[in-house]
Amino acid sequence: MKILSIETSCDETACAIVEDGHKVLANTIASQIDIHAKTGGVVPEVAAREHVLQMIPVLDECLKEASCDWDDIDALAITKGPGLISSLIIGTETANVISYVKNKPLIPVQHITGHIYSNWLDLDEEIEFPVLILTVSGGHNELILMKDHHQFEVLGESRDDAAGEAFDKVARILGLGYPGGPIISKVAEDGNASAFDLPRAYLEKGSLDFSFSGLKTAVLTIVKKYAKTKGFEIADELDEKFKADLAASFQEAVVEVLTKKLYMAFQKHPDIKEVHLAGGVSANIRLREVISEKFANEVVFRHPKSIKYCTDNAAMIAASAHFLYKDSPEKYKASSNIIPTTSFEIF
Ligand code: KG4
Ligand code: ZN
Repeated sequence: MKILSIETSCDETACAIVEDGHKVLANTIASQIDIHAKTGGVVPEVAAREHVLQMIPVLDECLKEASCDWDDIDALAITKGPGLISSLIIGTETANVISYVKNKPLIPVQHITGHIYSNWLDLDEEIEFPVLILTVSGGHNELILMKDHHQFEVLGESRDDAAGEAFDKVARILGLGYPGGPIISKVAEDGNASAFDLPRAYLEKGSLDFSFSGLKTAVLTIVKKYAKTKGFEIADELDEKFKADLAASFQEAVVEVLTKKLYMAFQKHPDIKEVHLAGGVSANIRLREVISEKFANEVVFRHPKSIKYCTDNAAMIAASAHFLYKDSPEKYKASSNIIPTTSFEIF
């Protein structure tokens, strides 16, 4: 079964064609990173206007890349939310129109479940349930117990900044640019992760929730103090060694908290067969390394097979849709008119 999916929840205009929930025939993305780098973050109206320009060319390219025409497509999938509402509207309206004109069933997908299913992409073997998932994105940060396909229980979540958001904000404080995650991890390679003693928020005893805003503030305080002693006005003037040490110390603090909470959740659910990492921050090499060491000899650990499946993409949306559609195709009709939502509700 071939599903064509569209994802426009934030700043990537993405379209994919995926067969049977794992075989990626095409995964086309028009990134807006260069546009948003100028403003140091995503301006929603700018993102939406860019989606309008990119949507049809991305769709055309996707069909071409997969050597498919519309008759080959069994169903359509669309990110319904959560995300930036003006961006979501462009994707959902496009999908609604195609569903009507081409008479194809349309499957609405919750974005985070897409990230969860990114671990199914390009995978040949079967995944064993229950799976414990750490979702680490720019907008969301959760610990999720997945008992079977599309059966989720949220065990913990961020009470303030998500991990990716903290990476982006700290990169901004250090004058490193946007998006922060990949830049921080690159700069951190030359830094000493023990150089700064940064706080780790574990919250109440036994809590599986996260909080990264205190860590971000601690970084800001250190930068302000350092700049003052040096007489600097702006982050651009910060010394390279200082930036590398602070980036490495920050990354280590985030990785340590994420790994410890993931392990705590694992210990509370002894029947867990696999541990998965998903979302943009799953691209972080240090995070993968530390989790993989922690779970070695304990349980199967997976992260998305390719970096392009970590950050927003449409292939993951098609994979999630496949497992919704497979067992209940009658639930999904053509012309069903999907209304986007900013709400996290899904499960
Ligand atoms: O999942 P995603 O593409 O978008 C949301 O759904 O939010 O995640 C984007 C986030 C950004 O905050 C970005 O800085 C972060 O993922 N990210 C990383 C890395 N690559 C992307 N964070 C840490 N290390 C990375 N290598
Ligand atoms: Zn995402």
